[in-house]
Amino acid sequence: MIVFGGTWFVGRAVVAALVADGHTPLVVHRGHAEPTGLADAEHLHAERRSWPAHRDAFAAFEADAAIDVSAENGAGARAALDALPAGIRLVALSSIDVYRAYEGMLARRYTDAVPLTERSALRTARHVEGPHWENLELEEQYLAAGATVLRLGAVYGEHDYQRRFEPVLRRVRAGRAQLPVGAGNFLFSRVYVGDVAQAVLAALASEHARGECFNIVEAQTAPMGLFYEQVVAAADADLAPVRVGDEVLPADLRAGGFVGQHVLASAQKAREVLGWRDTDPHSALRRSVQWHVEHPPQNWDTDFSADDAALRTA
Ligand SMILES: NC(=O)c1ccc[n+]([C@@H]2O[C@H](COP(=O)([O-])OP(=O)(O)OC[C@H]3O[C@@H](n4cnc5c(N)ncnc54)[C@H](OP(=O)(O)O)[C@@H]3O)[C@@H](O)[C@H]2O)c1
Repeated sequence: MIVFGGTWFVGRAVVAALVADGHTPLVVHRGHAEPTGLADAEHLHAERRSWPAHRDAFAAFEADAAIDVSAENGAGARAALDALPAGIRLVALSSIDVYRAYEGMLARRYTDAVPLTERSALRTARHVEGPHWENLELEEQYLAAGATVLRLGAVYGEHDYQRRFEPVLRRVRAGRAQLPVGAGNFLFSRVYVGDVAQAVLAALASEHARGECFNIVEAQTAPMGLFYEQVVAAADADLAPVRVGDEVLPADLRAGGFVGQHVLASAQKAREVLGWRDTDPHSALRRSVQWHVEHPPQNWDTDFSADDAALRTA
């Protein structure tokens, strides 16, 4: 089993699940960091662009499958595909940002009914997250090669370097009493990192997954305002939500304002075809939040002047 990426967050969980399931992964990355606590596996250090030059090393590993966790764009996918022996099983990770609804959300237009299925319309605009990133490109490369593509919701869990709970947890850490929230209606499907790893195992095991896309998202999604309250509860904290106007929300709480087009997806196909299920969301969230409470960022924003200004308007 070859894993492209595999040491930061999602890939780290995938490698741990592969090892726990009895696989022998080769973890391929630059080696910029070798964090402690990684699952025991062989590593090959090389920049993605150079991977085709390592074709013989990949062939010598005699892998029956490859999982690309971090292709980022079409060129990244191409570099991995050009390095691999023909005919092996392929799984690539993508995102529900490929759907037109994501473009609608950014443009503040209503474009799609939800929940989004794998047949929902895709984005027409490209590189909406900057010139480097494009999951549509990597999907095109991988689907043409017969891969299974997993479209992930917003991933949360242990080791999340995006720190999705930080807007709430920095206020808990500072002992704040009140959390300014806006309309709080936004629905964006999330998924626990351990459940993503199980989806990879399910895709590898399925005879019906080749050349198919699957949404990998939680079964039920809390609107952003409720999610903030769930994070507070999971941190065993006392931080009371206070309704303020969206226009005065602090920058890191703007997702708690009104958002028109929801990006809510259905994982029904993954449940039916792969037999995949998400774990109990209550315990997954609690475990994840507790990890982040115990592992705060080294430098965090202690300026709450925008909160104070917003709360004065309540
Ligand atoms: N987080 C989310 O909410 C979310 C949502 C939807 C989809 N996803 C998907 O999840 C995946 C990313 O997850 P992750 O970052 O946690 O994955 P990861 O596999 O845990 O970490 C990224 C890996 O890529 C390696 N890497 C980075 N740049 C490289 C390069 N130029 N050449 C070779 N190796 C390189 C890194 O190691 P070195 O630094 O040592 O090279 C690291 O091992 C993406 O496919 C993303 O689209 C994430």
